Amino acid sequence: MRTTIDSYKKRAARLDLDGIEFDDFRDRPLPPAALRTLRYMHDVEHHTVCYLRDLLLTPAHQDPEITSFLSCWVFEEMWHGEAIGRVLEAHGEEAGAPRIAALRAHHRRQQALTTMSTIASAAFAGRAFIALHMTWGAINEWTTQAGYSRLADAAGHPTLRELLRRIMKQEGGHIDFYAAEADRRLAESPRAQKLTRFALKHSWRPVGSGVMPKSEVDFLVRYLFDGPDGSAAAARIDRRVDRLPGQGDLHLLRNAVTKLAPQSVAA
Ligand SMILES: [Fe+2]
Ligand SMILES: [Fe+2]
Repeated sequence: MRTTIDSYKKRAARLDLDGIEFDDFRDRPLPPAALRTLRYMHDVEHHTVCYLRDLLLTPAHQDPEITSFLSCWVFEEMWHGEAIGRVLEAHGEEAGAPRIAALRAHHRRQQALTTMSTIASAAFAGRAFIALHMTWGAINEWTTQAGYSRLADAAGHPTLRELLRRIMKQEGGHIDFYAAEADRRLAESPRAQKLTRFALKHSWRPVGSGVMPKSEVDFLVRYLFDGPDGSAAAARIDRRVDRLPGQGDLHLLRNAVTKLAPQSVAA
């Protein structure tokens, strides 16, 4: 069943933190690898608004259903970042505004280039850009949800598991919208299929790659998508991409894991 924008708007909400005891992390801290992953996720969740700024400079802003979705989506993602920030703070780490401001200052030049590149791509692609944007969004949301699930298993912390379960539920709402829109828009336009396939094949990188240092992207891919369970999660995402019109056999996740964690693939 296709999720409509109306049903998503009714469900969109600030993340429910009732009953989440953040002090649990002071008594029972997370392992270093899980904390490193959460720093990445905190920064990427909070970066969503910058991604939105770029998207609103493209034809996406002309579609009122998409702008309604994006308005709710950016709100939910911001609260994901805030919740993860509270986990970091419970470990005595800086989170929220000071950390985000420092990250944005550091990446100011890179962000200007990203913005210009998005505008140029949209000008070239026209309305087909919306199909690409929806497809890219679906893949990012699939990857994010799978990453949270893998982190919950790897960290083995009941409070984190419950927090991530609630975040993953909202990521599921994002997936429903992006994937349905991608499927419909790609099915309608062979040109959109070709452009999307070309862009994914040549430019797709794991979510956060444009903001986070390569060392952190490499670590994250290895930590979350290494081993049999990680490989199975990556393969599931690739199969979902395969089912989108004109996007078969791209193997985006498999290629990313091979490139960023070659030793784990060879093992
Ligand atoms: Fe999120
Ligand atoms: Fe999301």
